[in-house]
Amino acid sequence: MRHVSRRTVLAGAALTAGLANGLARPAIAQAAPLKVGMMLPFSGTYAALGENIAAAFELMLAESGGKFGGRPVTLVRLDDESDPAKAPANANRLVERDNVDVLLGTVHSGVVMALVQAAREHEVPLIIPNAGNVAATRELCSPPVFRSSFSNWQPAYGMGRVLAARGVKKAAWVTWDYAAGKESGDGFRDGLRAGGAELTHTLTLPFPETNFQPILAQLGGLGVEVVGAFFAGGGAIQFVKDYAASGLRDKIPLCGSGFLTEGVLKPQGAAANGIQTALHYGDGLDNPKNTAFRAAFKTKTSRDADVYAVHGYDAGQMLAAGLTATKGDATATQALAAGILAATIDSPRGPFKLSASHNPIQTMWLREARDGQNKVIGTAVEALADPGTGCKMAGA
Ligand code: PHB
Repeated sequence: MRHVSRRTVLAGAALTAGLANGLARPAIAQAAPLKVGMMLPFSGTYAALGENIAAAFELMLAESGGKFGGRPVTLVRLDDESDPAKAPANANRLVERDNVDVLLGTVHSGVVMALVQAAREHEVPLIIPNAGNVAATRELCSPPVFRSSFSNWQPAYGMGRVLAARGVKKAAWVTWDYAAGKESGDGFRDGLRAGGAELTHTLTLPFPETNFQPILAQLGGLGVEVVGAFFAGGGAIQFVKDYAASGLRDKIPLCGSGFLTEGVLKPQGAAANGIQTALHYGDGLDNPKNTAFRAAFKTKTSRDADVYAVHGYDAGQMLAAGLTATKGDATATQALAAGILAATIDSPRGPFKLSASHNPIQTMWLREARDGQNKVIGTAVEALADPGTGCKMAGA
């Protein structure tokens, strides 16, 4: 059921004003700046991830002359602190108080649910530039909701497949106890199973805690050949260091979703050497788009690009494709979706298209951390789509 929302009222007001001035509505829509509400973590364990997403989105916008679909874009930044308890108020503030036309966010899988709800309720387009919560592109899929990143299931599934193909029979999963950790554990399990291996143990601690000692103390006695993990940002730095310091590294290899070593290799230092992970990005991907992107990102930020920066850049490219199709009208949800779905996104990770449930179909690379780089050493799974189970949208 369609709500008579703030947006419907605003659109009506604009139309009335436009007709009174003898102007057609699209001209009004194009002249007005387009407000993008950027809800990301700029503090806490995921702060560096949010900063890279924001910087790369801004980079792509600047490369587009500051406009999408002919409309100048203004950004409203909001720090969500990766705090699910504050998420509904933050998302509503952007839509109802700041009157944003488009939502961009976020990193944390719990927090993103408030954005998904706001997007569905108010029919505001939402581009998710990280959070992998599978529901966003499965049972809660919706015409205005798109992801430029991954589903939590995808990278860990790739890792599980690689291990099983190597003959590993038993593995454990270690993670934070929230959607991203659980769902990537499901992917790991499914990937292992597809090759006849088994996930025998899952060990968790609350997000964003970093007291890993009780978990590390148990791992040696589980009888597993490999430990897989989902951690990211500040927590990933600590876990990888603690795993090495515990002496487990030489007995049970550590692997995971690529976030475990992504954007954090410098502080992890030698502790990360040899860790293999699967991800839709990696160092040494040799394509012209990646070369140009990495140079431009470095010039803008003095930092090396990582997968988070790629997500932010591609969120900009997706939004540009949608708004070009609607000539800048963010309220034309169906046409915007058609524009995004028709596009092949020229991503630094390699070109990709979205699945019918609006999640990237993309290759999972196998990488190995060595001397400060996540070197691509092979392909884990080519052109992997999230199953999109339970997505009931037309066309999905
Ligand atoms: C998530 O919560 O979905 C999440 C957070 C950080 C990552 C990946 C996924 O690096």
